[in-house]
Amino acid sequence: MTIPDKLEKNLIFAHRGASTIAPENTLPAFKLAMELGADGVELDVILTKDKQLAVVHDFELDRTSSIGGTVQEMTLEEIKKVDAGSWFDEEFKGVQIPTLQEVFDLIGGKMLINIELKMRASEKSRDLAEAVINLVRKNNLEHSVIYSSFNPYPLFYIKWMDKNASVALLSMGNFLGKTINFFFGKLLLHPNAYHLNHELVTSRWISSAHRKMLKVRSYTVNDMDEMKKFFEWGIDGIFTDNLQMALSIRDGDK
Ligand code: G3P
Repeated sequence: MTIPDKLEKNLIFAHRGASTIAPENTLPAFKLAMELGADGVELDVILTKDKQLAVVHDFELDRTSSIGGTVQEMTLEEIKKVDAGSWFDEEFKGVQIPTLQEVFDLIGGKMLINIELKMRASEKSRDLAEAVINLVRKNNLEHSVIYSSFNPYPLFYIKWMDKNASVALLSMGNFLGKTINFFFGKLLLHPNAYHLNHELVTSRWISSAHRKMLKVRSYTVNDMDEMKKFFEWGIDGIFTDNLQMALSIRDGDK
């Protein structure tokens, strides 16, 4: 599956994989998302101490694993020893935090992958951006990944390294989000898409973006009425925890 200009509307991305039925950001969650028929998955990447790409949402591991610790202060070898499944259900005991390469090996080219780049202010944006784009290139997945971040700096590097990359600025639904959107989105970065907090989405926003050939996708859309409304408005994609609900609203019984 490839993204690109002809990207269809109403695409459904499983937020952190099928994260209500398997532990978020793990291989079982991505595999289930694919089996259930998601168009894509959303995942998060953070650089480890030894500059490897770990697929995990929080900088601190205590919420989704067996131990505490900070991703950037641990090597990949240390992170691989962590049980990232038991916190969710004993059935997933021993499931590891995957690397981005492991995710590519499982679903690369079979579905869209939205890679959210996450870093702390003390880290170099370029290190993260280069690590991600080099891996995407090595796997020939340029046409099936979307790069997104709340932080515009790694996205600048991605665009600099590949002007055709599909880059999306994530926007929070508060004043800071709107300000970042305006300065970096409109004036400097020229992203291909906006990924908006669901509270910000309006039909006007979508039409206006479409007139400028920009995509609008929204996170995290879990409410049935909101899904229906956004699909009617022609949203390009949603990120959802309620994958099965979203698929049945969009596709009916077919
Ligand atoms: O990437 C879209 C959305 O997932 C952002 O929210 O909290 O998962 O990083 P979060």
